[in-house]
Amino acid sequence: MTAEQKILSDKIAALKASKRAIILAHYYTRGEVQAVADFMGDSLALSQKAAQADADIILFAGVRFMAETAKVLSPSKKVLLPVVEAGCSLADSCDAAELARVKAENPDHLVVAYVNTSVEVKALTDICCTSSNALDIVNRLPADQKVLFVPDRNLGGYINKVTGRDMKLWDGACLVHEEFSVERIAELKEAHPAARVVVHPECKAEVAALADYAGSTAGILTYCGREDVQEVIVVTESGILYELERRYPSKKFYLVPTKDGCERCIACKDMKLVTLENIYQTLLDESPEVVIDEAVRAAAEGSIRRMLDMSV
Ligand code: 13P
Ligand code: SF4
Repeated sequence: MTAEQKILSDKIAALKASKRAIILAHYYTRGEVQAVADFMGDSLALSQKAAQADADIILFAGVRFMAETAKVLSPSKKVLLPVVEAGCSLADSCDAAELARVKAENPDHLVVAYVNTSVEVKALTDICCTSSNALDIVNRLPADQKVLFVPDRNLGGYINKVTGRDMKLWDGACLVHEEFSVERIAELKEAHPAARVVVHPECKAEVAALADYAGSTAGILTYCGREDVQEVIVVTESGILYELERRYPSKKFYLVPTKDGCERCIACKDMKLVTLENIYQTLLDESPEVVIDEAVRAAAEGSIRRMLDMSV
């Protein structure tokens, strides 16, 4: 951390204390942002934390759907999102009006939605899931229950493959995770034959097929803690390296480069919009605040609560 970042971090800590605020951060945010967080996690852990947080203000260091989920679960708290434009290509790939239309055409299908969706989509959803619990949640549904899985075709396809189900899949994807190529991973594997390959299930099927372990960011962090895992090819957003190196400083981690060899370029630009500067300003101003229409919030809450109840 630079001297300037240290000064800002101290100012943020003072503001957090005086305003009873907490910062929740996703593993894909910048390292210095993760360093000022009270709690870091994958999307499931962050939503669980948001539901229980003992604070007046939750500042969400992440993207919009995450801050919306926090607000849905904690409507009496002030939820702040430093950059209102921080979106998600996956959430953007599912429009609520279009989902309403597809639902009407498939009235016998249960809608299972990845948490990477807008609050309006969650309001039309029966059960939410994250990459941590998607497999378990789908497995617990009756075998003959028809399911419409939105919006990630890759995660949905992975679950269909593992469970043998035939869920109807929305045609959405995370543009960041779709960038990973089999060729670049194969080159790394050749250079580091002992390395295990860990993959986020938002990647394409041919990439997920190379995995020694496929799972959420939290699942990846736990897997990398195993004694027999010392070298790892990391096939997810590069921000996770901060927590991997913090937890396991003696292990070796290899990020997958882009075609032109850039190692940290497979990054979620929206997650990187959050900086120490805008966190400080947001806490100071108590704005931008996440505001959700109460009818939409209440409709969305059921789908998230059902997921949390199934994940304890
Ligand atoms: P998880 O945090 O569930 O691993 O999901 C990754 C992601 O893409 C968050 O946007
Ligand atoms: Fe969305 Fe992909 Fe960024 Fe996650 S990494 S927030 S799924 S665009």
